[in-house]
Amino acid sequence: MEIKSAEFMASYTTYKDCPEPVIPEYAFVGRSNVGKSSLINMLMDRKKLAKTSQTPGKTQLINSFFINKKWYLVDLPGYGYAKVAKSTRKDFNKLIKDYVEFRKNLMCLFVLLDSRHKPQQNDLLFMRWLGEKGIPFCMIFTKTDKISSSELNKNLNNYKKEMLKNWEALPEIFVTSSEHKIGRSEILSFIGKINESAVF
Ligand code: GTP
Ligand code: MG
Repeated sequence: MEIKSAEFMASYTTYKDCPEPVIPEYAFVGRSNVGKSSLINMLMDRKKLAKTSQTPGKTQLINSFFINKKWYLVDLPGYGYAKVAKSTRKDFNKLIKDYVEFRKNLMCLFVLLDSRHKPQQNDLLFMRWLGEKGIPFCMIFTKTDKISSSELNKNLNNYKKEMLKNWEALPEIFVTSSEHKIGRSEILSFIGKINESAVF
């Protein structure tokens, strides 16, 4: 899929205020600082479409973008960042969970995981919850430029093994680096295929 246009729509505090759910939507979620906003910029080939930061907790609202005048892309706040006040963390989690559970046009949720780390409990619990709710999702491993390919393989295998303890099959997995533009065509063609078969 070629990206012809990518426009920022607005930021919302609840899924209820998001644009009418009349076209396909895809959202990016994951721990704070995992690289959601950077990945969105890489996919859209725009440096500053989504705001990125070295300080975790940059994205605090539901940020919607209108792509190719045909579908929405959503940048969600990060979950589970320990340094954010507990009450704020709770609000973020509710915002994310309500959005994921009730947004009618959400075709697929992309769950981002830092490829450098071992499987983390809150990511595993979040994906288990997605399974219970029947929400379609993919896994995206980020920041692969920061590790060697042997480390990456080891970490991926670890993750797959951990997932298969609770799942019969693995979801679609993408391996990315926003820094080196890895994984772009795979993710965009995945979205393109779903868009083609989406009925509204
Ligand atoms: P929150 O909005 O706070 O939840 O964070 P986020 O998940 O949107 O992360 P963001 O895209 O802001 O990136 C966090 C930091 O990681 C920034 O300093 C990015 O430059 C860096 N980063 C993101 N992706 C990559 C990558 O693929 N490679 C490298 N080397 N750094 C990355
Ligand atoms: Mg962000």
